[in-house]
Amino acid sequence: MKAIIAGTAIEQIINKPFKVYHTEYGDVDASIDGDILFILRHRSGHTDAPHLINYLANVSLLESMDVSHVITTHAVGSITERLLPTNIGLVSDFIDFTQQRPFTFFDGVKRPLRHVPMNDVFDDELRFQVIRASVERNLRISPALTYITTNGPRLESKAEIRAYRSWGADVVGMTLNPEVNLIHELGIKLSSICFSINWAAGLDEEGISFIEGESRKKLTLRVLDIALDALRSI
Ligand code: HPA
Repeated sequence: MKAIIAGTAIEQIINKPFKVYHTEYGDVDASIDGDILFILRHRSGHTDAPHLINYLANVSLLESMDVSHVITTHAVGSITERLLPTNIGLVSDFIDFTQQRPFTFFDGVKRPLRHVPMNDVFDDELRFQVIRASVERNLRISPALTYITTNGPRLESKAEIRAYRSWGADVVGMTLNPEVNLIHELGIKLSSICFSINWAAGLDEEGISFIEGESRKKLTLRVLDIALDALRSI
C-alpha cells in the first residue's frame, strides 16, 4: 500500500467515502482507492487546526496499513525566490520550530527510546518520480527547498520571517513537522511536495494576501495529480 497525506481537496478527487479508522493513538479520517490510502490531515471538514492535528494517529495508520511509500502535500508561504507564489516544490530539509506537539514514537514509554537520524528524510526514488511527473505536465518544480514549520495558528511577524530567511528557510508552513519526523521514524519512504499560496510576512508591500478560490483549488488538484502519478510509478 502507498499513501497520500493532504490538507484539502482530496475529498474532490476520490470517489470513495472517507471512513474513520481507529489507531492506538486516536482516530483518523481516510479512504482507500485501489492501492492508495488517502489521509485527511485535518480530518473531515478541516476541523483540526495545525497545532491540534493528531500526527501520531495519522502516521501510525500508515504503519498499520503496511504503507511503504507516502507523499505529503503542504500549502506554504514563500520566504525566498526559490519558490514563488503559485509554484510547487519538493522539500529537501526542514527546521522544526513547533512547540508542544507530540513528536516521537520512540519516547521510551510506549516504545523504546531511539535517537533516529534526520539527515536523510526524503526518498530519492520518489523525488525523481515527482520531478518526472511535473516535467511531463510542463510544470516547473523547485527541487530542493528548506521548510520551516511554525506552530501557528497565527502567522509570523516580519522580524520572524527575516530571521527564518537568515537561517536558510525557503518556505514557511505549519504542518510538515512533526509529520515527516514520525514517518521517517517508522522507516517509511517519503516525499513532501509544497505549493506556495502567499509571500510570507513583510515580503509583499501590500501585506499578506493568499491565493484563494478557483486558482487555489486548481493548484491543490495539480499537486495531488502529480503525487498520484509518482506513487503509481513506484
Ligand atoms: N505562514 C505559515 N504557514 C503558511 C503560510 C505562511 O505565510 N502560508 C501558508 N501556510
